[in-house]
Amino acid sequence: MKELNGRVAVITGAGTGMGRSMALSLAAAGVDLVVSDIEMEVAEQVRDEAIALGRQAVAMRTDVSRLEEVEALADAAYQRFGKVDILINNAGVTLRPFRAVWDTSYEDFKWVVGVNIWGVIHGVHVFVPRMRQQTGEKHIVNVSSMSTLAKVPGHSTYVLTKAAVNGFSDVIREELAPYGFGVTILYPGYVKTRIATSERLRPEQERSDTRNIPAYDSYLKPGGEEPLTSPVRIQDAGAMQVGIEADEVGPMVVRAIRENRPYCLTHAAPDVPMKEQFDELMNSYLV
Ligand SMILES: NC(=O)c1ccc[n+]([C@@H]2O[C@H](COP(=O)([O-])OP(=O)(O)OC[C@H]3O[C@@H](n4cnc5c(N)ncnc54)[C@H](O)[C@@H]3O)[C@@H](O)[C@H]2O)c1
Repeated sequence: MKELNGRVAVITGAGTGMGRSMALSLAAAGVDLVVSDIEMEVAEQVRDEAIALGRQAVAMRTDVSRLEEVEALADAAYQRFGKVDILINNAGVTLRPFRAVWDTSYEDFKWVVGVNIWGVIHGVHVFVPRMRQQTGEKHIVNVSSMSTLAKVPGHSTYVLTKAAVNGFSDVIREELAPYGFGVTILYPGYVKTRIATSERLRPEQERSDTRNIPAYDSYLKPGGEEPLTSPVRIQDAGAMQVGIEADEVGPMVVRAIRENRPYCLTHAAPDVPMKEQFDELMNSYLV
């Protein structure tokens, strides 16, 4: 999508962090916005910032884990602008502390899957049939994580959801390309946002700080990296662990949309674990 001026974008979780950065970078490139977040106050602030940049923008409170709310978001977007050229499924949550899978509650799984997987499904399910009716180029950005590219013990629930986003997005890119869609997977490394506080959005009785969850690290030998209970190896994830500012991400995503890139990484790829896994897979045809 080379020409962004005059386009319309819907961005979920756009009130802070990378969602806000993508919203404002797109606004600076001439894109009108539907700024959506589960927290209306921050969505309204970003709407006002986009208007100050000379764009048309509306704010909408949407919980992406609820189908009816995403349907209402699409209704509002089409009513206001008559089209949606860019959909960014960005809203996401994570658990703190990092925890072992055996310390992960059923409600932990349900909450993270509800936002990070069902949120993306809802966005695609609700918007794609409508966007497909439009002529010309369209673009979808689904937000994954570089934690899917290196094994990060203690982070299994989150990686479960983001790996699902990867597989889903790679397949729908093929299905949608003939209809004028590009699909980018955004793989953030460590970006300084308020993601670590996302449990504030859970019912109080389910939050980790009210439940005494042991941190995954508490299973590690003092001073070492080997767990007491299993031979899991912590791989060096490298550059992706160095925090960057959220504002750095928006321009990267704008470039990925303009160049119709399948992937956008915010940090250098963790080549050691990626190569190890690739080589292991290539040598695993066990006939
Ligand atoms: N920050 C990182 O280091 C990092 C790394 C990899 C991936 N990510 C992913 O990047 C995306 C953006 O996160 P961020 O780091 O900017 O964090 P953030 O917490 O600043 O932004 C996420 C936004 O999503 C909103 N949100 C949460 N639950 C929602 C729901 N159910 N419905 C609608 N909105 C909801 C929050 O209110 C928040 O404004 C997420 O998908 C996250 O998983 C972040």
